[in-house]
Amino acid sequence: SGAIGSLDNFTEEETMLRDAVRRFAVDVVAPKVREMDENENMDPSVIKGLFEQGLMGIETSAEHGGAESSFTSAIIAIEELAKIDPSVSVMCDVHNTLVNTIFRTYGTKEQQDKWLPQLASSKLGSFCLSEPASGSDAFALQTRAKKDGDHWIINGSKMWITNSHEAEIFLIFANIDPSKGYKGITCFVATKDMGIEIMKKEQKLGIRASSTCTLNFDNLRVPAENIIGGEGKGYKIAIEILNEGRIGIAAQMLGLAQGAFDKAVPYTYQRQQFGQPIGTFQGMAFQIAQAAIELESARLLTYNAARRKEEGKPFTKEAAMAKYWASQVAQRVSGSAIEWAGGVGFTRETGIEKFWRDSKIGAIYEGTSNIQLQTIAKFIQKEYS
Ligand code: CAA
Ligand code: FAD
Repeated sequence: SGAIGSLDNFTEEETMLRDAVRRFAVDVVAPKVREMDENENMDPSVIKGLFEQGLMGIETSAEHGGAESSFTSAIIAIEELAKIDPSVSVMCDVHNTLVNTIFRTYGTKEQQDKWLPQLASSKLGSFCLSEPASGSDAFALQTRAKKDGDHWIINGSKMWITNSHEAEIFLIFANIDPSKGYKGITCFVATKDMGIEIMKKEQKLGIRASSTCTLNFDNLRVPAENIIGGEGKGYKIAIEILNEGRIGIAAQMLGLAQGAFDKAVPYTYQRQQFGQPIGTFQGMAFQIAQAAIELESARLLTYNAARRKEEGKPFTKEAAMAKYWASQVAQRVSGSAIEWAGGVGFTRETGIEKFWRDSKIGAIYEGTSNIQLQTIAKFIQKEYS
């Protein structure tokens, strides 16, 4: 299926990218999805393919080895990958919308010259903010960095870090001066070979092929030139990048919902009961119509937020709305899709149940649904008081 709802304001370049990502997802990713889910492991050939397809430096300049495409292009790629596998989608999402974007937005020329080509060509990145005791309350993080000559020594641990089993480049948020509260938080870049301890993968309900690990820093020595954006600027970097990143998660959830819909709906026109295709019973047809409305609404919210960000307009509230709504839609549509396929939908054979398992994470990472509601509520309060 090529459903993109009623949106037709994509450029020729964006449409070509959508077709290319779709081909990659169908040809390379689809045959591996079930095995990767069951083995809780991302196939190395898929990671290699993402790099080879130019999907790991979507907005990165050509000078740095990237595709120099639009933010909307990144969102399209994330959506298309999620239609086939939300795990592959989040790998691409974190790498592009969080890691690359931090270097592109806050890195010095030297830092961009050094890190962006590696990230575009072969080295996977991780964004390390959350800790065992600070998830929603992210700025209460306990990881500390102390200056030692021309180095910083980082101690502490991070939890729930996506891509960390395969990654080589890590953006680590640590507080260099807790007396300043969150204004001591600073962003550091470190590589695995500097001595980051990466623990075993979490065993999860969904996005099981996406690695999620705890990281420990035991006197991790990082050169002073590896601070991104300046001392004490880390909290602003983290939240401003997450504002954008949330549009990526909205796209992941939108793609997921579309993927489940695309698998289940054709089945309802083939499967006969009581002498007629089940999808033509009004009780089924209306559910399918309602799901189509949900998909359309999630799509409009997601791409509107993306365009606003691209055009330099305020987008934080719209991004929070898109992320909140698309993750609700993903749960509802993938849940309905299982029911539409009946017993078949409940088995692992069709992959529909996997979409439903994968949908649950949308309401948790990059700010839980309550955190999105809190962000939206703050804007409304400001607008009306
Ligand atoms: N945009 C810009 N700035 C914001 C902001 C936003 N959405 N929310 C807060 N801020 C700023 C405030 O302006 C303030 O800065 P100044 O002092 O310079 O004005 C500062 O942040 C603190 O503001 P608050 O006291 O209101 O914020 P808080 O401490 O109560 O909570 C928060 C702030 C930690 C950002 C919280 O709102 C939040 O978003 N928590 C969720 C954290 C999160 O999204 N983690 C994701 C980890 S990455 C991940 O999950 C990746 C993945 O899975 C794939
Ligand atoms: P908590 O903050 O403890 O929240 C638990 C519940 O309390 C939620 O329902 C929440 O909404 C509610 N709650 C908390 N505070 C409030 C409030 N003020 N008002 C109302 N309700 C509230 N982090 C990274 O830094 N990098 C990553 O790559 C990354 N990847 C992840 C991948 C996976 C698979 C998972 C599960 C998590 C990942 N995370 C990552 C962490 C993720 O961002 C956090 O799990 C998330 O921010 C929630 O934090 P928490 O789990 O500590 O839950």
